[in-house]
Amino acid sequence: MRLDKYISSQGKYSRSDVKKLIKQGLVSVDGRSAKSPELQVDPDSSLVVICGETINYKEHIYIMLNKPAGVISATDDKSKKTVLDLVPPELYRDGLFPAGRLDADTTGFVLLTDDGDFAHRILSPKNHVEKTYIATLADPISDEDISALEEGILLKDGYQCLPSKIKRINEKEIEIKICEGKYHQIKRMIGAVGNKVLTLYRAQIGGLPLDIDLKEGFCREITQEELGEITT
Ligand code: URA
Repeated sequence: MRLDKYISSQGKYSRSDVKKLIKQGLVSVDGRSAKSPELQVDPDSSLVVICGETINYKEHIYIMLNKPAGVISATDDKSKKTVLDLVPPELYRDGLFPAGRLDADTTGFVLLTDDGDFAHRILSPKNHVEKTYIATLADPISDEDISALEEGILLKDGYQCLPSKIKRINEKEIEIKICEGKYHQIKRMIGAVGNKVLTLYRAQIGGLPLDIDLKEGFCREITQEELGEITT
């Protein structure tokens, strides 16, 4: 891989930054000063240092965001704040996107990545990666409603939902796990039993809970170990 591509893919420096820094003698590969942005490097073995900092090359990045209400799960918007606006420069990369959208008024765990295959794996209902939500409801929920939702409710537009798992927290609050992510899915599921979602919070993706120390509006990188917890 070309040196400028290798460095710029990690987010911090653009290709033109790399070119300038090479000219200034601030980039080295395996201990030797780099002379050209076209120099070939091996992502698995080359030791690249830029401005005194060794590149810790990662093919992809996986970020946990605690989304506040009012932020939209888009990559770009003219007027509204997006989930990408909350990513600090040191974690930002071209090609980042939210792997699964939350409504603007839904809070909690959004996973951002530049790895399309991984996103597909966690989003496809076939792979049974459960997303866990806490919903507060306008009215008390009955055992019959819970059973209907758990069996797979038929939405008003004729869409047949897959089964879900529900735990009652109190009469107007539930934990609900679903493997699919249709538009307004939980709000429409709850609407189908004549109730209404007042607040919705995503607490967990697969086996990985949202870090309780991560304040609303903040992000951090997901570790390799945590990444494994998502799909197990
Ligand atoms: N279901 C919804 O209705 N909204 C969300 O944001 C996520 C799941």
